[in-house]
Amino acid sequence: MQNNHQKEHLYKILVIGDLGVGKTSIIKRYVHHNFSPNYRATIGVDFALKVLNWDQETVRLQLWDIAAYQINFTVRNFYGQVHRQTRTPKTPPPILPLSVSTSYLPQSQERFGNMTRVYYREAMGAFIVFDVTRPASFEAVTKWKEDLDSKLTLANGKHVATVLLANKCDQGRDVLTNNGIKMEQFCQENGFVGWYETSAKENINIDEAANCLVKHIIASE
Ligand code: GTP
Ligand code: MG
Repeated sequence: MQNNHQKEHLYKILVIGDLGVGKTSIIKRYVHHNFSPNYRATIGVDFALKVLNWDQETVRLQLWDIAAYQINFTVRNFYGQVHRQTRTPKTPPPILPLSVSTSYLPQSQERFGNMTRVYYREAMGAFIVFDVTRPASFEAVTKWKEDLDSKLTLANGKHVATVLLANKCDQGRDVLTNNGIKMEQFCQENGFVGWYETSAKENINIDEAANCLVKHIIASE
């Protein structure tokens, strides 16, 4: 008898990388097919769902767009005692902060706890994004990869498939070429299954990168 039910896959996919590299824009382009030049930092975590037809099967990608920073603030309680608090807020702090500063993850995560561990849980794949116009965002890539691998392993003991995205390639690729970075070698040494030069603005290579990730996830299942 023929089975009319399509097989379905649901995969949680993380999108991580430094502040302003284009994580939200990539997701917006991929899922909603549009782009905005205006920058609004993501607070906490945002979600989007992309549905793909894959060899007669349905693949649902639950994309987790994770903010790259936390806010540290100091509050004074009813008795006048001062407390330091850290959070990745969806809402403003309950008490008016006396001082607010931002700190970046994952560099400061040993000081600021395990927020990313909670977000990473049960993910099946990840994109790590950097901005080709900002060398520091590329230097942070290995830190993001270490943070991910140290906190998340699959049931089979392996690390999740991770694709590296060199975003804003519409702005030129100077960072990559000027520094003589050999991306193939970098990916092999750091455990990326692939890398793509992407542009959320010009819609370059985003579908290709996602297909690469899905292919590796399915192959590893
Ligand atoms: P956080 O949420 O703060 O971590 O930032 P993000 O990584 O989500 O970056 P976001 O998508 O908000 O993009 C930051 C800025 O870069 C915005 O002004 C975007 O319009 C711009 N941007 C994103 N992708 C591209 C791109 O491919 N090309 C160009 N030229 N600009 C881009
Ligand atoms: Mg964002």
